Amino acid sequence: MPIVIDHVSKDFGAFHALDDVSLTIEDGTFVTILGSSGCGKSTLLNMIAGLSSPTRGRLMLDGIKVTKPGPDRVVVFQQPGLYPWLSLRDNIAFGLRMQSAARGIDWRRVDELIEIIGLRGFEQHRPYELSGGMQQRVAIARALVMAPRVLLMDEPFGALDAQTRHTMQQFLLDLWDRIKATVVFITHDIDEAILLADRLVVMSARPGQIALETTVPLMRPRHWDMSLEPGFLDLKRQAMDILSA
Ligand SMILES: Nc1ncnc2c1ncn2[C@@H]1O[C@H](COP(=O)(O)OP(=O)(O)OP(=O)(O)O)[C@@H](O)[C@H]1O
Ligand SMILES: [Mg+2]
Repeated sequence: MPIVIDHVSKDFGAFHALDDVSLTIEDGTFVTILGSSGCGKSTLLNMIAGLSSPTRGRLMLDGIKVTKPGPDRVVVFQQPGLYPWLSLRDNIAFGLRMQSAARGIDWRRVDELIEIIGLRGFEQHRPYELSGGMQQRVAIARALVMAPRVLLMDEPFGALDAQTRHTMQQFLLDLWDRIKATVVFITHDIDEAILLADRLVVMSARPGQIALETTVPLMRPRHWDMSLEPGFLDLKRQAMDILSA
């Protein structure tokens, strides 16, 4: 299911947030969108999610115009946004509860995801009893329980400390190997953007435009020490040139 972003612009009143953005995201690829604060990354992601619509241009999913949110596209935000009064297990099941009230919840799937995110034994914990990284893993599981074809992530690790962030990057890489969903991942961290992606998109600001779109020349499985490889460093230099322009 390719996502086709076709000459998309977005204005907020007289302000041009995005200008003529075109991008095709192939099925099952991991795409990161890198850009400085305010360059329009969230604006673009929200349009893919169907939470807002382009001022000009078209956004197609599987050949069908995106006009509203759908269970095939779920968003994970910077803040985990868990329900404080629900247990970890009920937080993950929440989306299913909304969707499958009549059929009942597939608790096997919920428990399988708890296993995958490495939080067995924490099922009955409330969010305040979990660390930031654990909460974000729950937020990811809550998204995955819907079995989305596209996982949209808006700086999901932005609020975490450097060490936890590394752990979560590795976690996401391992997870993605298993789920093979299309992932669109937003970040302003250059290393994170390159380490995770098949395809790297670098945006420039005012107005938001795509300055670079390229394949990341690294093997999988990925590991943080690949950030010392020449291919990585070369790409990092290109991205830094754009971001500091
Ligand atoms: N609903 C809105 N109304 C008016 N202006 C908006 C709205 N949403 C975003 N903008 C403006 O559009 C620009 C891009 O915003 P956006 O949130 O997409 O940036 P971003 O790249 O996600 O930044 P950050 O990295 O800080 O999250 C900003 O200048 C912002 O002020
Ligand atoms: Mg943003």
